[in-house]
Amino acid sequence: MANVVVVGAQWGDEGKGKIVDWLSERADVIARFQGGHNAGHTLVIDGQVYKLNALPSGVVRGGKLSVIGNGVVLDPWHLVGEIAKIREQGVEISAETLMIAENTPLILPFHGELDRAREEAAATGTKIGTTGRGIGPCYEDKVGRRAIRVADLADRATLEARVDRALTHHNALRAGLGLEPVDRDGLIAQLEEIAPEILQYAAPVWKVLTEKRKAGKRILFEGAQGSLLDIDFGTYPFVTSSNVIAGQAATGVGIGPGSVDYVLGIVKAYTTRVGAGPFPTELEDETGERLGTRGREFGTVTGRKRRCGWFDAALVRQTCAISGINGIALTKLDVLDGFETLKICVGYELDGERLDYLPTASDQQARCTPIYEEMPGWSESTEGARSWADLPANAIKYVRHIEELIDCPVALLSTSPERDDTILVTDPFAD
Ligand code: GDP
Ligand code: IMO
Ligand code: MG
Repeated sequence: MANVVVVGAQWGDEGKGKIVDWLSERADVIARFQGGHNAGHTLVIDGQVYKLNALPSGVVRGGKLSVIGNGVVLDPWHLVGEIAKIREQGVEISAETLMIAENTPLILPFHGELDRAREEAAATGTKIGTTGRGIGPCYEDKVGRRAIRVADLADRATLEARVDRALTHHNALRAGLGLEPVDRDGLIAQLEEIAPEILQYAAPVWKVLTEKRKAGKRILFEGAQGSLLDIDFGTYPFVTSSNVIAGQAATGVGIGPGSVDYVLGIVKAYTTRVGAGPFPTELEDETGERLGTRGREFGTVTGRKRRCGWFDAALVRQTCAISGINGIALTKLDVLDGFETLKICVGYELDGERLDYLPTASDQQARCTPIYEEMPGWSESTEGARSWADLPANAIKYVRHIEELIDCPVALLSTSPERDDTILVTDPFAD
């Protein structure tokens, strides 16, 4: 297989960063195709921790091309800061190893302000719990045809015209929210200052990737967030503002859908969610606390405590179908060590009927109660296991049962944050 797409199959934070880093040894190009610096991807390599938001998770391996595709929304100031931080950790980044699509929309300071002002103004129960980083407002501008894109930074007259167009909209909106109008000239000056830092990486990504593909290079597409945060298929409106499912990989870089050979879904062995919205298997009790403590479930971007609950096989079966997932990487199995009994949600009861998927209507979602199966846990440690032989029998049974319930095989298993604490079952890149 030449090209592999990695997507989160739950509500994000499934361990995509670790798996993308691990897989990137086998790839030539690692490309982000949606989302922005709302993502927080953590890599641990020989004890050293790398935290990435906008940069692809293949960046710490030398000799790979990292790509930020047009499907991403990019905060140029954040990116420059992130590059500086990651360079301090000894990672080399240059125009040879990082490429940004010229048609990538830019997140500007007023996007973050709008994001936060709206969240503050929202009534209790309607707050989304965004990361406050301007992701939604920037995607709105893209679709509203008033975004400022990377290529616009190269020409003063274009930049001014684009800023004026955006501000006509935003200043009216800001007045309604009680915010000061944006300082137009100040913003243009800020953009002109950052422009060379970004333009050095700008390229026609669609063309470069087409050439790479023709030359037989392997592309690894790195998704951010998770399928249940997808703008169309997630728990709307408690979602992010982009398509995060595998179909977006092609659109988000400009390569044909036939270029995708394998879709790997990243799945946590239980469930977490950060931010508001429905979560049928959420545990607001000691067991939930225990999962959160053992799994160190705090958001990388906002530091918020992640909500925790049992594994929801009905939801993962649904997201496997929507993304056409060929195999999953099951992560954080070690967090379940020591539980006497494990529960798995296999469907929902809604108004006396049994459903094998989560319905779309919010009121129905709220009335769904999970139907659980119970399995015996294991007392042995799986932390750091690197082969099937190291896993206790009940852990293997748990993994095998998940495969059956979600109708998808396990390709990789992860047993600690460390890069090499990973068990390979089927190589997504194998022919
Ligand atoms: P991402 O957003 O999908 O890349 O995931 P995050 O990096 O936000 O969150 C996953 C967290 O779990 C990170 O702190 C990882 O270091 C950690 N992690 C990844 N895989 C494993 C695993 O198999 N076991 C344990 N205990 N931690 C893991
Ligand atoms: P990674 O890539 C988990 C959530 C936010 C909020 C909702 C909308 O690390 O898995 P946004 O700022 O995108 O408008 O927020 O989406 N969210 C994430 N949750 N992991 C992420 O990324 C997330 N990115 C956004 O918490 O509920
Ligand atoms: Mg994360």
